[in-house]
Amino acid sequence: MDHREVKRYWNGNAEAWTRLARAGYDIYRDYFNTPAFFEMLPDVRGLSGLDIGCGEGHNTRLLAQRGAQVTALDVSGVFVRHARQREDEQPLGIHYLLASGVELPFPAAAFHFATGFMSFMDIPEIDRVVAEVYRVLKPGGFLQFSITHPCFDTAHRRNLRDEQGQTYAIEVGGYFEQRRGDVQEWIFSSAPPQTTEGLPKFRVPRFTRTLSEWVNGLIEAGFLVERIAEPRPSDQVVRECRNIQDAQVVAYFLHILARKPGRRVTLLAGTSM
Ligand SMILES: C[S@@+](CC[C@H](N)C(=O)[O-])C[C@H]1O[C@@H](n2cnc3c(N)ncnc32)[C@H](O)[C@@H]1O
Repeated sequence: MDHREVKRYWNGNAEAWTRLARAGYDIYRDYFNTPAFFEMLPDVRGLSGLDIGCGEGHNTRLLAQRGAQVTALDVSGVFVRHARQREDEQPLGIHYLLASGVELPFPAAAFHFATGFMSFMDIPEIDRVVAEVYRVLKPGGFLQFSITHPCFDTAHRRNLRDEQGQTYAIEVGGYFEQRRGDVQEWIFSSAPPQTTEGLPKFRVPRFTRTLSEWVNGLIEAGFLVERIAEPRPSDQVVRECRNIQDAQVVAYFLHILARKPGRRVTLLAGTSM
């Protein structure tokens, strides 16, 4: 399966995904995954950034609200339409376009930084995306992305729960098995049945790589890996949203910050690198 075929699946997911995510049912994202991403993100005020796999634009808007000039793209026209619609209603200066991360329609050294919020693990030709990002970054620019954690998003995974229904372990297996587009069906688990009635389940093609393949892929493209995070919700956050308790047991997400060698981005008006 290649990125063109993946596009068809995401177009099929986009209406229900947009509706449910905007209604607040993407709870892992909202309660701790996105907050942790922004905790690690360098200061982007005044910088030009590219968001790859922006979906309906929720995280892209948060990026723009931090003062970056953001261009965002997605392979799904349905998602891009929803994102543009929100931009028309509440402008943040975001420029959305329909494109694939595999072929970035920009000249070399066009951006100070690039992001990918939970999109890179969905792209089969991820090495080409990483090479493209390297090309369009200015020297000293950075890439930060989040993915499902390769060590715990494996071919086999099962939550083990105690009598109170609390997850106490995650059973994983098949870590070295390569999934090359087998389709997983699911829907946001916190969405009550009346909200999902009549909506199709998401159909998401999965592509797995080991942790070392992810990190070595960046190194081979020329990046310097600067920081890694494995977000975990605090007890306080779990009290606010009990459904994410299982994310305290193992790391569900992995965040990587990598830099193209060169003079670092500095936070100045008229930033130079
Ligand atoms: C899990 S969603 C994440 C969306 C959004 N970034 C968020 O955080 O809510 C993955 C996104 O990656 C997009 N995607 C998949 N393959 C892509 C590709 N080759 N180029 C750009 N976007 C892609 C999908 O259309 C989808 O919007």
